Amino acid sequence: MKYNRLGNTGIKVSQLCLGTMTFGAEADEKECSKIYAAAKDKGINIFDCANLYAGGNSEKILGKLIKSHREEVVLTTKAYFPVDSYAGGGAISWGRGLNRTHLIRALDDSLKRLNTDYIDIYYMHRFDDDCSLEESLSTLNDFVHQGKINYIGLSNFAAWQYMKAVGITKMHNYAPIACIQPMYNLLKRQCESEILPMAISENVGVFSYSPLAGGVLTGKYVTKNKDKVDGRLNEMEMYKVRYGAKHIDNIAENFVNFANKNGFDPISLAIAWTLHHPAISAPIIGGRSAEQLKASLNAVDIEMSIELREKISNLSNAPETATDRSEETTS
Ligand SMILES: NC(=O)c1ccc[n+]([C@@H]2O[C@H](COP(=O)([O-])OP(=O)(O)OC[C@H]3O[C@@H](n4cnc5c(N)ncnc54)[C@H](OP(=O)(O)O)[C@@H]3O)[C@@H](O)[C@H]2O)c1
Repeated sequence: MKYNRLGNTGIKVSQLCLGTMTFGAEADEKECSKIYAAAKDKGINIFDCANLYAGGNSEKILGKLIKSHREEVVLTTKAYFPVDSYAGGGAISWGRGLNRTHLIRALDDSLKRLNTDYIDIYYMHRFDDDCSLEESLSTLNDFVHQGKINYIGLSNFAAWQYMKAVGITKMHNYAPIACIQPMYNLLKRQCESEILPMAISENVGVFSYSPLAGGVLTGKYVTKNKDKVDGRLNEMEMYKVRYGAKHIDNIAENFVNFANKNGFDPISLAIAWTLHHPAISAPIIGGRSAEQLKASLNAVDIEMSIELREKISNLSNAPETATDRSEETTS
């Protein structure tokens, strides 16, 4: 496992991050401790969580797992969505989102569930159309100065939203944004057009999620009976919609054939492909069991040449460039 400096921060993170979205949901507490141990043994030092996951249970389980060695791990969590414990939940304006009232409440609840007095990276889980970024960022800046969080992250933000946030932090001398968290895999490549070039230009860290496209790139749905396969696509409507298009089946099948023909486990190869984009700090991997996670952890052992990455990239369409006239040379 390699460790790289995270963007402009002074911390080093492993080249894989363990996601805990399945903790307390598909994985019970006993399985979570096996997943956690496997990740830690492989050298992972950064763990991705959110207050939303399993209605707060993911944070509770992760909090127990890190307790004996809190200082050794980079702990992250997120806020935006309402969690069950709030009276009124999403029905009242401050029961969700990035407004000051909700962020204060959400962070205090996360600290309690994680049983810690600080979060290393605190993410806004998504952009909030109903709240100014000034309000959210001034609140997060207060959290940094109170010692409750060390770094600020943004997840699912468009490039313009990120740059707007950067402008606000610079104008008011607020704590800077350390990292972003977009979706990225061979089937969902939108972030290649604006977000990843921006991240390189700004030297901001990038933790990309869903490197296996929610399980599609494992190849398990490449079968006539895909509706019968055990997995998220048949359990969660959102994922069926996200990855349900016919062209996605074709790309997944071609990718799995390519991996097998060239002697790679498709799971390890799909993750290695995201990992070796120059903007990526670490893909966030995850699974419902330690057994599932094995092949994902092996992604760091694949030597990814520029040629191999290009061959894999050619199996799906790159997104349109962000601006026209990209064929012109400027030199
Ligand atoms: N910021 C955000 O909005 C956001 C959104 C999503 C995720 N995340 C973070 O990113 C992490 C990873 O995301 P993800 O779970 O979508 O990643 P992913 O790598 O795309 O999908 C992981 C899923 O693939 C399936 N899988 C993995 N290995 C397998 C194997 N060996 N055999 C069969 N199936 C296998 C499992 O799902 P099934 O068994 O159910 O098929 C597993 O849960 C999450 O834990 C979370 O921390 C963040």
